[in-house]
Amino acid sequence: MNIGIDIVEVKRIENLYRKFGEKFLHRIFTDEEINYCFSRKNSFHSFAGRFAIKEAVLKALGIGMTSGFSFKDIEVVNLEKGKPVVILNGKLKEMLGNRKIEISISHSDNYAIGVCIIHNL
Ligand SMILES: CC(C)(COP(=O)(O)OP(=O)(O)OC[C@H]1O[C@@H](n2cnc3c(N)ncnc32)[C@H](O)[C@@H]1OP(=O)(O)O)[C@@H](O)C(=O)NCCC(=O)NCCS
Repeated sequence: MNIGIDIVEVKRIENLYRKFGEKFLHRIFTDEEINYCFSRKNSFHSFAGRFAIKEAVLKALGIGMTSGFSFKDIEVVNLEKGKPVVILNGKLKEMLGNRKIEISISHSDNYAIGVCIIHNL
């Protein structure tokens, strides 16, 4: 079992959006993630939580954003009752196959935190 964790300042994500606009969002998040976050009252808390999960998954894998990977290869989707799950795309999907990945997200006023556990790695 491998674990990864990351904490992200909500303002940092919001400032990047104010500076670089949609281009920034589309570089990091899938269309579905962007739609979900903008549907939330505190959109940037949800963006920050997703960003934290993407980094937490990389930490659990023990890799960085090396060539060939995109942040969009790690996608967070919320199930009907709100529980977040990870969907892998691209090279990461090939690499990890059907390994079970569990995540959890929390936000406070200023920070979002993401935790990831990957089984049988
Ligand atoms: C799920 C719940 C625990 C989230 O806690 P919270 O303190 O409101 O919010 P947090 O900032 O810690 O966490 C928010 C994240 O929890 C995750 N989450 C939401 N519903 C979830 C669920 N059913 N299971 C697991 N995770 C969930 C989401 O990832 C969410 O962030 P996102 O929408 O950006 O993806 C809470 O909303 C809830 O439903 N609690 C049930 C008990 C209850 O109703 N209590 C209220 C009276 S005390």
